[in-house]
Amino acid sequence: MSRELEAVHSEIVTCTKCELHKGRRKAVPGDGPVGAMVMFVGEGPGEKEDQEGRPFVGAAGKLLTELLASVGLERSQVFITNIVKCRPPNNRAPRQGEIDACNPYLEDQIRLVGSRILCPLGTPAIRTLMGAEYSAGQVHGKPVRMRERTILPLYHPAAALYDSSLKDVMFRDIRILKQLIQEESQPDTSHLSSRDENGEKLLQKWM
Ligand code: URA
Ligand code: SF4
Repeated sequence: MSRELEAVHSEIVTCTKCELHKGRRKAVPGDGPVGAMVMFVGEGPGEKEDQEGRPFVGAAGKLLTELLASVGLERSQVFITNIVKCRPPNNRAPRQGEIDACNPYLEDQIRLVGSRILCPLGTPAIRTLMGAEYSAGQVHGKPVRMRERTILPLYHPAAALYDSSLKDVMFRDIRILKQLIQEESQPDTSHLSSRDENGEKLLQKWM
């Protein structure tokens, strides 16, 4: 991890910028290598994450690991974090004020890790990265260019844990990630600029 990212993460573990710090055991800054092409952004730590201080180590994390493996990716190759770094009490949804208070950390991580592809998991993460009018049901699996990065919104793995049809959708959507990685890996990315201009329009059409 770079010194700058380490500095951000050590700020997170002692942060008191929102109420969520009161109930946490451990803050969960996130995990993964600087330079990871792909960053996954979940909603917030659950019980196991709060215990261990690491993201997606519970049941949803197991499904995320399986999704990655299905396209030949290992967890150690991607960066994984959340829109809030401290566990909301009883796993309630994070409040907008909490998301806003925590957002500078996510922005720093995106900048310092330098991921070209961002995968928000579930509606709260999708709204945080893309804007309030979007929801997972509408935009999952539809990549869009935003602020010089590609965003591939996905369902949250927790939503698919007990819903096998949603799980199938997730395994289909993750294949799009594989394609995006291949596109990003090509030296000639001029084809991406057309998506850059049309991304917003395309997204409108999909909705
Ligand atoms: N769910 C999330 O959104 N994030 C985690 O880190 C674990 C479960
Ligand atoms: Fe700080 Fe984010 Fe934790 Fe709130 S959730 S206390 S802003 S690190």
